[in-house]
Amino acid sequence: MNEIPFKYGKPVTAPYFIDRESELEELYHDCSKVTAGGEINIALLGLRRTGKTSLLRNLIDNLKDDKKIVPVFMDCYGIPSRSTFGKQMGELIKDAYIEKTKDMGYKERIKSLVKKKTSDLLSRTSEMEISIANYLSIRIGLQEGGIDVWERSLEYAENIGKEKDVYFVMILDEFPDIAIRWGDDFVKRFRAVVQHQSRCMYIIAGSAVTYMTELVHSEGSPFYRQLKTVKLEKLPEDITRSFVGERLDMEEDAMDRFIDLTGGFPDYTQRLGYILFRRYGKEDLSLERLERGYEEMLDELQIEFKETLSRFNMKSGTYGDIILSLAYHKRASDVARDVNMPLSALPGYMDYLMRVGMVEKEKRGIYRLSDPVFNEWVKRMQVIPYD
Ligand SMILES: Nc1ncnc2c1ncn2[C@@H]1O[C@H](COP(=O)(O)OP(=O)(O)O)[C@@H](O)[C@H]1O
Ligand SMILES: [Mg+2]
Repeated sequence: MNEIPFKYGKPVTAPYFIDRESELEELYHDCSKVTAGGEINIALLGLRRTGKTSLLRNLIDNLKDDKKIVPVFMDCYGIPSRSTFGKQMGELIKDAYIEKTKDMGYKERIKSLVKKKTSDLLSRTSEMEISIANYLSIRIGLQEGGIDVWERSLEYAENIGKEKDVYFVMILDEFPDIAIRWGDDFVKRFRAVVQHQSRCMYIIAGSAVTYMTELVHSEGSPFYRQLKTVKLEKLPEDITRSFVGERLDMEEDAMDRFIDLTGGFPDYTQRLGYILFRRYGKEDLSLERLERGYEEMLDELQIEFKETLSRFNMKSGTYGDIILSLAYHKRASDVARDVNMPLSALPGYMDYLMRVGMVEKEKRGIYRLSDPVFNEWVKRMQVIPYD
């Protein structure tokens, strides 16, 4: 029983997964409706590290016994191009369908066809099931009739659905990463595909909270009022306290500080819990030990945080400067002065930082970095001027 009772670094399921019962129930319920022709598309939003991917993994587990519902999970983060998206999606759909239904005949037919030459395949498509012809054309990267591979890959799911009487729950995690890069035209065409499908429902998840909110609520968005929103907040304090309290014997002031430093983020709760347990075991966790554990956590996150910052710097150093400034200042006017820009130029930058979830607006003219641990790290990497 020396196993560390915390887990991080990948999505978690029970017994490491806590709270989120109502969100999970709601998503499950919405997914079940797809088989009755009531497909609802969902926007799942929440800051990074609040547990979206974990929630989705648990949803997929819960759908295991629904014979007709095939969940397909795609992580959109970092997908370089639309054609790669299409090809990956094609594979995911095929594999998910075969895994759910154990339709080995389908698997074998595809297996023998992909060995054939492209020219042979093209002449024989009329003999194939439509979905198999679909699949093969995605694999070959065939573009025809102005329909891109990525659009065809979504149609592929719809066609299997019709052919085999199954339904797909298409989960696109970190959707804003591709949507922001590929632009409005992509989102518009994506919406057009989704709109006429009856065998597929979509869950679009993203950490870029403002982007996601605008996707649902701004009038110019192709998804204006077309998505049901499920929002993941930070964990309630009492739940975090009891989760940690069951696993670590912390002194009262240490526990208060733990709650403070981790800010209700499940990721940091697990990370810091893990580090403390590994260093000190279950007993006697004082404030001093907690502070040391926290330092270790910051060290451990260093590379990730650097990457985050450099992503913004690559866009423009001004973003990096604003982020650095925000670790100390909340007021827009102070930030603008700090980075030497007119106050009127700041909103353009701030809007982007909010869109991607880096910054939150507290109230008019007052901002903060949304992640308290990142904030602390940024604070420490700066040279503090003498004065
Ligand atoms: N419901 C939960 N209960 C406990 N820990 C969680 C929960 N959800 C997430 N975590 C922790 O947070 C980490 C990050 O979660 P993840 O689902 O990847 O967040 P996101 O996808 O929102 O960035 C997980 O590796 C796990 O340690
Ligand atoms: Mg995630």
